[in-house]
Amino acid sequence: MSSPLRIAVLASGRGSNLAALLAAHERGELPVEFVLVASDKANAGALRLAEAAGIPTLVLNPRAYADRLAFDLDLFARLDGCGADVLVLAGFMRIIDGQALKPWVGRMINIHPSLLPKYRGLHTHRRALEAGDAEHGVSVHYVTAELDGGPVIAQARLAIQPGDDEHTLAQRLLPYEHRLLPAVLKLIADKRLQLASPDGVAFDGRQLSAPLRLQGDQLIG
Ligand code: GRF
Repeated sequence: MSSPLRIAVLASGRGSNLAALLAAHERGELPVEFVLVASDKANAGALRLAEAAGIPTLVLNPRAYADRLAFDLDLFARLDGCGADVLVLAGFMRIIDGQALKPWVGRMINIHPSLLPKYRGLHTHRRALEAGDAEHGVSVHYVTAELDGGPVIAQARLAIQPGDDEHTLAQRLLPYEHRLLPAVLKLIADKRLQLASPDGVAFDGRQLSAPLRLQGDQLIG
């Protein structure tokens, strides 16, 4: 049997998506090895989760670096050094320099709480409500130099309810995030997904014409 895919997770906040990955792994549904959880925030909840799970952690303070590029180059050198095959951005709230991330293109995914290409960047729930959208959702995409702009692998959708506000919408979306990210990572671990240049996603060797959709816990094309 080949050794499991080595994953490093980057997170700036509470880490509920990391928790979902750990839970899927615990249930035997995610054949990966977590080699590192890294953060730009010493108080990130994600770090505490990693410590509790016995996963090595790394905190780098952006203010200790001359500029974004210097921070990113050091971060990625360390991620490389820990032997990570794939990087998962799970609430990593920093823009990453394009030059620094280049060696990882095709091996780095991000979870973003909108139906990309809608609402790149921040305040996605508010923007969906303000636009009067009927539905909202979450995307997992390959990371490229374009912020929240890389090829979308998979999405989960939910209907916006009449009484929804930013808070309720974010809360109702979260369980979808927690199913989507492990499901995508499982496909990567099973070597069923690839970044197909220049801007597509191949699933089982065939280029996707639309992102995979989450139904229950399953991704379907
Ligand atoms: C999630 O909504 C994720 O989609 C976004 O940041 C949030 C992180 O939440 N990128 P958590 O730290 O995983 O709980």
